[in-house]
Amino acid sequence: AGPPVVLGIESSCDETGAGLVRDGVLLGHAVASSMEEHARYGGVVPEIAARAHVQAMAPVVQEALGRAGLTLADVGAVAVTAGPGLSGALQVGVAAAKGYAYSLGVPLYGVHHLAGHVAAATLDGGPLPNPSVVLIVSGGHTSLLLVRDLARDPIVHLGDTLDDAAGECFDKVARILHLPYPGGPAVDRAARDGDPAAVRLPRPLSGPNDPPYAFSFSGLKTAAARWVEGRRAAGTEPHVPDAAAALQEAIADTLTRKAVRACTDHGIDTLVVVGGVAANSRVRALTEQRCAAAGITLRVPALGLCTDNGAMVAAIGDLLVRSGAGPAPMDLSVDPSAPL
Ligand code: KG4
Ligand code: ZN
Repeated sequence: AGPPVVLGIESSCDETGAGLVRDGVLLGHAVASSMEEHARYGGVVPEIAARAHVQAMAPVVQEALGRAGLTLADVGAVAVTAGPGLSGALQVGVAAAKGYAYSLGVPLYGVHHLAGHVAAATLDGGPLPNPSVVLIVSGGHTSLLLVRDLARDPIVHLGDTLDDAAGECFDKVARILHLPYPGGPAVDRAARDGDPAAVRLPRPLSGPNDPPYAFSFSGLKTAAARWVEGRRAAGTEPHVPDAAAALQEAIADTLTRKAVRACTDHGIDTLVVVGGVAANSRVRALTEQRCAAAGITLRVPALGLCTDNGAMVAAIGDLLVRSGAGPAPMDLSVDPSAPL
């Protein structure tokens, strides 16, 4: 019979995702986003996100099944993000997953959102070399991870952000620049016509005595805000493309320098970059350039697998099932602040 088809369900933030994976192969996935409903508030509103998940869940699962050419009867296991994330949003996914698992009579697996992001990389290019360094950069997380066997070994945190995540920094500065939400893609677009050297921004935690793999982005945000305020106080509107380009350069420079250093320090020749910020054009270009120069193989999954989705949850679920890990109890609860 071989390994079962795993249905993965993701609902930790504003994306409702469902994916189907069998034996390391992505069969199909679908995502619905409530992002536009949050835009007027400048950030994700938990109550709105939870309600949107309720509405989107069953259709998204059906769409994923349709794309895979499967029906619910083909599903042999269900995996769901149990945390970390927004409590009410997570509960919608976990409740749905329990319903599917219970009614189909198949095992349920609760998975960690970040392990899912890392597992997404296995769907594009196959299993990760053991060990690999993973840079996860999203709106909620910025970490450098040492990953061995994803299903069996704990993920080691080489360094994390001490304050804001990189995506959060993009989003907050975008807001200051009056760019639309979500800010990351808007900064990326604006930066195309900007000169990164026109605004001098710091490279946080990059001194010889700073922790080599830790990040800090709140100071960068403040520096960018000061520059903008300085311009406005002087009666000139800040040049948005220049500010966007400088911010993007500072973030990309910091992320890629530390990621490459983590690889070379540990003698690891594969760097994996996942999370929404991996979509950033400058982050991509600079990692490619610096990895090539250091002889490091770079793996960045396709964009749709980088941002929140159900395929990544199915991917880690599939790895757990195939490793023989035991399923979760049917009273699995959400863990909004789950540590990795
Ligand atoms: O992984 P993700 O979809 O959700 C989580 O946070 O888990 O990441 C979303 C983040 C947001 O902060 C968004 O602004 C950022 O990724 N982002 C980008 C780009 N596309 C998305 N940041 C910079 N440049 C982009 N092109
Ligand atoms: Zn995420």
